[in-house]
Amino acid sequence: MRYKHHAFICTNLSSCAQHEPEKIQKYLKSRLKELGLHKDIRANKSGCLDGCSYSPVTVVYPDGIWYRLLTEADAERVLQQHLIGGKPVEDLMIQELNPSHTFQAHSESMSKPS
Ligand code: FES
Repeated sequence: MRYKHHAFICTNLSSCAQHEPEKIQKYLKSRLKELGLHKDIRANKSGCLDGCSYSPVTVVYPDGIWYRLLTEADAERVLQQHLIGGKPVEDLMIQELNPSHTFQAHSESMSKPS
């Protein structure tokens, strides 16, 4: 496998772009470079990931974990805990798009946005 983790941040105009996902993608990209991890971990823009009703959507492979990241602080948590540490950040995960994941806590904060 070429990358330890690969995050795809949807920047599609139809839905996710309303939440300024390019800020999240640029933040992750610059932090990875700053930490010297950009050759092992990538954060790329993507087109629609077909999770529009949960926008903004980010998916992290190879784990296939789906997130709703609204702020740079959210992105930093996923960077530290998942992309570097290998442990998904449950309270930022989109429960409906991670049906095979067994959630341990914070289930009330992972519901579909209103
Ligand atoms: S527009 Fe982002 S998932 Fe569809």
